[in-house]
Amino acid sequence: MSFTVAIDGPAAAGKGTIARAVAARFGFAHLDTGLLYRAVGARMLEGADPVAAARGLAPADLARSDLRAADVARAASEVAAIPEVRAALVAFQRGFARQAGGAVLDGRDIGTVICPEAEVKLYVTASPEVRAHRRWLEEGGDAAQVLADVHARDARDTGREDAPLKAAGDAVLIDTTALDIDGAVAAACAHVAARLAGKAAR
Ligand code: CDP
Ligand code: CDP
Repeated sequence: MSFTVAIDGPAAAGKGTIARAVAARFGFAHLDTGLLYRAVGARMLEGADPVAAARGLAPADLARSDLRAADVARAASEVAAIPEVRAALVAFQRGFARQAGGAVLDGRDIGTVICPEAEVKLYVTASPEVRAHRRWLEEGGDAAQVLADVHARDARDTGREDAPLKAAGDAVLIDTTALDIDGAVAAACAHVAARLAGKAAR
């Protein structure tokens, strides 16, 4: 039986942290879909054509150690606005989502475009200032620049034509601005558990 948990939201909202915890708790597989766009962005920074890079993406590309870098994040949100890049990554994500045993995918368009039929949809967000502060704690650097990067990426991700970042109409909102990791994970797990119980009862 497949069971899909779709987690969307802006940068550093806590999507990955929640996705990993939900996957561990329920024994689901986890895919951080941002890594796909980061891998294409990294290839573009090396001079590759982003559409060709997306079409030829291999597991080794996702295992690169430099994908968390700030310039790669910026490049990722640039290539993510190219419809042919997005199209090349759809089939892999949908196949992952529908595997037996359950799957959690986190990204920007999982509940809206990739898995509109997902059993659970969460939209995880927090204020830009709190998100930038979290990123700065992780990566350091100039705090004002980190905040500017968060704003620029939010604008690009919500403003693009193809699969813009937005909450699905039936998504549950989890605002982590004033929520610690345990609180956010507990809220997410409660929704998943309720939906699993509902599905088992039918
Ligand atoms: O995946 P996404 O970019 O949405 O965020 P993340 O990588 O899960 O979280 C970004 C950072 O915020 C990590 O260092 C988390 O530990 C931290 N975090 C937090 O402080 N409070 C939360 N409620 C969620 C995440
Ligand atoms: O970890 P963080 O939230 O900062 O970023 P990420 O999830 O690794 O995503 C990097 C970039 O990839 C985002 O800014 C989006 O432009 C793009 N992305 C997307 O367009 N669709 C997805 N499903 C996931 C990421």
